Amino acid sequence: MQNCHNKLEQTRILNEYLANLKVLNNNLYNLHFNVIGEHFFVLHKKLDEYYNKVADMYDEVAERIKMLNQYPITSLIEFEEKSTIKSMRSQDYNTYQVYSILINDFSFMYEFTKELLEYARNIQDYYTENLMYQYIEFFEKELWMLKTSSQTIYSG
Ligand SMILES: [Fe+2]
Repeated sequence: MQNCHNKLEQTRILNEYLANLKVLNNNLYNLHFNVIGEHFFVLHKKLDEYYNKVADMYDEVAERIKMLNQYPITSLIEFEEKSTIKSMRSQDYNTYQVYSILINDFSFMYEFTKELLEYARNIQDYYTENLMYQYIEFFEKELWMLKTSSQTIYSG
């Protein structure tokens, strides 16, 4: 059984994770709209997939917080404050920048997901642990593909 303190800490961490998903989702839209260059068609479409996937994660994590009888963050200001990933300017992003940002932000989320998985496992929150396994699978696979694609484009 978890005590009250643990539950507040659990919610705080889940909300921090949620905030990062929300800002990441917003940034993926930004890149989807503003990507320019020779790989526009591929990246525009891929980013569509990514923001939908991250929106699903956002929904699942918020619902997990509700299952714990707590409140998920819904304020845009609070998302920005609590998120390590920060909102980006609306401007042109070329292929190189898109890959760099995706690899950087997905790497951050991958590490955060592993931390949250360990935390959930320690407090026997199996539901969250299971969600995190699924997200690790997503981020790890996409990071492999993003790194492979960017090598093909920039190594020569
Ligand atoms: Fe679109």
